[in-house]
Amino acid sequence: MKFQQNVDLQSLNTMAVPSVARYFFIAQTLEDIRLALAFASKEKLSVFVLGGGSNSLLPEKLDGLVIQPLLKGVECIENSAESSWVRAGAGENWHDFVMHCLSAQYYGLENLAYIPGLVGAAPIQNIGAYGVELKDVFHSLEAMDRATGEMQTFNFSDCEFAYRESVFKNRLKDRMIIASVTFRLQRQAACNLSYPALASALEREADGKNPEKVAEAVIKLRQRKLPDPEYIPNAGSFFKNPVITEAKASALKLAHPKAVIFDVDGSHKKVAAGWLIDAAGWKGREAFQVRVHDQQALVLTNPNRVSRHHILTLADAIRKDIEQRFGITLEREPGLFSE
Ligand code: EPU
Repeated sequence: MKFQQNVDLQSLNTMAVPSVARYFFIAQTLEDIRLALAFASKEKLSVFVLGGGSNSLLPEKLDGLVIQPLLKGVECIENSAESSWVRAGAGENWHDFVMHCLSAQYYGLENLAYIPGLVGAAPIQNIGAYGVELKDVFHSLEAMDRATGEMQTFNFSDCEFAYRESVFKNRLKDRMIIASVTFRLQRQAACNLSYPALASALEREADGKNPEKVAEAVIKLRQRKLPDPEYIPNAGSFFKNPVITEAKASALKLAHPKAVIFDVDGSHKKVAAGWLIDAAGWKGREAFQVRVHDQQALVLTNPNRVSRHHILTLADAIRKDIEQRFGITLEREPGLFSE
């Protein structure tokens, strides 16, 4: 058992905030996780679970044990005429897994290509992009109860998925450690082009559309709009797209005809938070040493690698401004890790 002490986590979170963990431990097996939990309980340490660090705002000091579950393995566990059930370990890199499935001709994950992070974190916030959410391809997951070390299976309805939400961010927050996720993928190639920006990117494809081309287009779109955390630290979208009532959406459209608004259901609409922040003049601005990305105002970047306090201060200023201008409240997307 290797428990490292006073470990710098700056390179393990894509926002590159400085953060030091009192103890840090990489778990490669379920038994490793159980031993780490036993150590924490014996030493009376708080436990924090870190995935790929792509949706977390770490504090400067983590006084406890940080476990990074890097359980590996990808296998097809069942096939039917239409579907394949593919299980991936929580520690698999998400994008590599998407590309592996594509080359093995298991379809359905293409629209989610190039999202940073690990497989195990994907269900927690029900990752989504270009018209597909994780819940659309999810079958089940296996997770360990932190209190007992017992494994539990979570089927679709147990996960209580919603837009960037699941039971693991709410009722079961900090209670379970996800070990593997099983996806139900399709054996027939089909393309989901419901997202307008993706459909128009593929319109120019002369020789037909297929899932490989969809993945390629998604990768290009993301590379164009979103900063590469390797060079410009960021955590993707910093706010969720707010869901507002139909009446509020009509009033917004009347006052701002260019506002970008999508349908949700009969009585609700979703506003592009990027449009709100952009329209308020924040795009490309730097304040508190943190910068609003100049290609996509929904992304805050941390070029100076400052602590999360600075990032939260800018986020708060943006939130207040949007509230004043549009009467709409923005909700943060990345988790605070310890709250
Ligand atoms: N827009 C602006 N100005 C901006 C940014 C966006 O006017 O600075 C407008 C765009 O022109 C577009 C609309 O807002 O009409 C939506 O923009 P985009 O297609 O870039 O998507 P988004 O709604 O801003 C969401 C997800 C992204 C995901 C994209 C593509 C959330 C919070 N974000 O962004 O997810 O990649 O859709 O599907 O739902 C993430 O969660 O980290 C993430 C990157």
